[in-house]
Amino acid sequence: MKILFYDAKPYDIDSFEKERKNDPDIEIEYLTADISVRTAALAKGYDAVCAFVSSQLDADVLKELADAGVGLLLMRCAGFNNVDLKAAKELKITVLRVPGYSPEAVAEHAMALAMAVNRRIHKEYIKVRENNFSLVGLMGINFHGRTAGIIGTGKIGAAMAKICRGFGMRVIAYDKYPNSSLEFVEYMELGEVLSNSDLISLHCPLTIENYHMINKESIARMKQDAVLINTSRGELVDTDDLIASIRNHKFHGVGLDVYEEERENVFENREDDILESSVVARLLSFPNVIVTSHQAFFTEEALSAISRTTLSNAKDYENGSLNQDNIVL
Ligand code: NAI
Repeated sequence: MKILFYDAKPYDIDSFEKERKNDPDIEIEYLTADISVRTAALAKGYDAVCAFVSSQLDADVLKELADAGVGLLLMRCAGFNNVDLKAAKELKITVLRVPGYSPEAVAEHAMALAMAVNRRIHKEYIKVRENNFSLVGLMGINFHGRTAGIIGTGKIGAAMAKICRGFGMRVIAYDKYPNSSLEFVEYMELGEVLSNSDLISLHCPLTIENYHMINKESIARMKQDAVLINTSRGELVDTDDLIASIRNHKFHGVGLDVYEEERENVFENREDDILESSVVARLLSFPNVIVTSHQAFFTEEALSAISRTTLSNAKDYENGSLNQDNIVL
């Protein structure tokens, strides 16, 4: 099995090479370039390509891969909304992924964002370095005794629900398919969750139905001083509506690990670039907003689980014995 690995970062190479010691039959060539119509053609002679959540796997790119004779797309991530599945199906490309590699990694980051923005740690870090020890502007709220609203209680949402419970919060949730193992969670309709929560955390996948589920109308239902956290997908939130509502003094805090138009930024050092979009700049102009760049998954445990499962997906494909949970298509 020969795999062409796109957009390889040093930490990817370390982690995959460590795991590959157990599978020396798998060959991996690492490219720093991400996959595109031009770079997809380089996959000729490989059995599979490995891509990430930030890669653009549209119909044109998939067509190039199929023309190059590649029949397997190994996604080294859980989400796959960036893959044109209709095109992949037509082109007979199998798409495998790594679901639930470390739900706790993402949930812990969601709570880290919630804590940091609530207690204004991002402001205080800079103020104290400038010998400014004033507490003005740093007032937080106790999460203990408040209500956490979890949207989507799959693997990550369940881990977040447990963390919130550990903080002494009442946990309410919305999911089309309630998770019966979470006996302490009260399920209700989405609107009720939004209007009753002090902390709202999004943990559902992006689908056609829930694009911009957080918009002017749904924000209007939320408590004035709610904390909103999104570690799921940027397009769940209408950024213009979010910005307008923050300008109108809605929200105690907003923590975003994902945001619309993040694709060009994700995992790149762009400090010398003039950015083409003002989304981040506008969000960061508010004292009660923290943005991180799609790093919620980024722990040692998560990276080794991603490498291990991606390599076993490759082997299973070769042996014709796929793990059903990892099949996208
Ligand atoms: P999962 O598949 O275990 O759970 C998703 C849950 O959302 C399911 O229970 C499903 O019924 C529910 N759901 C689907 N549509 C919904 C809707 N419209 N409203 C409410 N609930 C809905 O997925 P998992 O592993 O918990 O991941 C959730 C999401 O987290 C992923 O789809 C991905 O977008 C995001 N993610 C973000 C990462 C990051 O680094 N920021 C890393 C990994 C995942």
